[in-house]
Amino acid sequence: MAQIAKTGFVFVLDRRTGKSLFPIEYRKVLPSPLDGEKLAETQPYPVKPPPFTRQAFTEDMVTNRTPEAHAAVLETLRKVDSKGMFTPPSLRGTMLFPGTDGGGEWGGAAFDPATGLLYVNSNEQPWIIRMVTHDTTSLYKNNCGGCHGDDLKGAPPNFPSLVDIGSRRTRAELLQVVREGTGRMPGFADLARNVDEIVDFLITGKDNGKVDPEAAKNDPNWLKYRNEGYILFRDPQGYPPLTPPWGSLNAIDLNKGEIRWRIPFGEYPELVAQGLKDTGSDNYGGPVVTASGLLFIGATSFDKKFRAYDKLTGKLLWETVLPAAGNATPAVYELDGREYVVIVCGGGKNGAASGSSIVAFALPEKE
Ligand code: HEC
Repeated sequence: MAQIAKTGFVFVLDRRTGKSLFPIEYRKVLPSPLDGEKLAETQPYPVKPPPFTRQAFTEDMVTNRTPEAHAAVLETLRKVDSKGMFTPPSLRGTMLFPGTDGGGEWGGAAFDPATGLLYVNSNEQPWIIRMVTHDTTSLYKNNCGGCHGDDLKGAPPNFPSLVDIGSRRTRAELLQVVREGTGRMPGFADLARNVDEIVDFLITGKDNGKVDPEAAKNDPNWLKYRNEGYILFRDPQGYPPLTPPWGSLNAIDLNKGEIRWRIPFGEYPELVAQGLKDTGSDNYGGPVVTASGLLFIGATSFDKKFRAYDKLTGKLLWETVLPAAGNATPAVYELDGREYVVIVCGGGKNGAASGSSIVAFALPEKE
């Protein structure tokens, strides 16, 4: 059994016993600087296979796309703690790398029993998390700031801005969204009449909603700190702040515990036009591998491509552009003796265009 992780590790276990097939070292990691937070003292590091993503954002990795981007990113990097992937969240701010969109993704991996190769696409996108004291002065900050930001600006497009939301939504609409939730946002029915106070704040900007300090003290779920917001760290022009690859496709030999091939995966068309190719990019959705020797994958957010690689070498054999990014895992099937591969094209991640189509390709009809 092989489990890929957002850390970039693959744990390879005997499915009958759960025993790891490669040694695992438990290495000491940093303690939390936050009062009352107790973290595990060690974390498991499989000795093999090597990680399929970088695991620390260090100064030698700061983007060289332009001198201005380099300077701006270096300044931010120096303001936060960045001591590798187990750097605990702090009040100062922590570089989360691999990030929440990093390492393996929900599309999962593909495995080829004929060769023992495991195929994993990976993201290399750092995020910043900063903890703030969970105080009792603002219902908005306590309940909503973690996603929409204490300053209401959110982190679009994942977490929408609520600046001037009163001019875009009626009071009734806002009450409904907060009580019942919408899309990826949970509902806050438990807040009962405090929902009115939060909506007043969204409309008027006056934060009268205080949390009752006595109630907070008696609430077993009340935590001393909370996350200030989800901040995807990009350079000032919106590109990943580190040296490429910003996304990769990996073939891992599970018998040897080695990476067989690893290639940059995805591009930004406007950067390609400027001569910056093979950077890799955000990619979501998994691969499929066929007995005949092909690896099919969409996933790349900005070039919206669907590709077929030679499964043994990683050589690109065919590619096409989809109507929107194929952020899904393709399916391969056969009907009346003819083979097809099909993928859902939804797009819409981290600023990429959205779509709503399903595209199928057929192999040429046999003679
Ligand atoms: C866990 C993260 C999270 C929290 C906490 C959260 N939201 Fe949201 N909110 C979202 C997301 C994501 C969306 C976009 C929903 C979608 O379309 O999928 C959203 C959408 C909204 C919208 C609609 C925005 C628009 O442009 O129509 C409003 C209003 C809103 N949130 C208010 C709040 C308020 C007020 C709170 C606190 C009570 C809150 N949210 C807490 C994640 C969150």
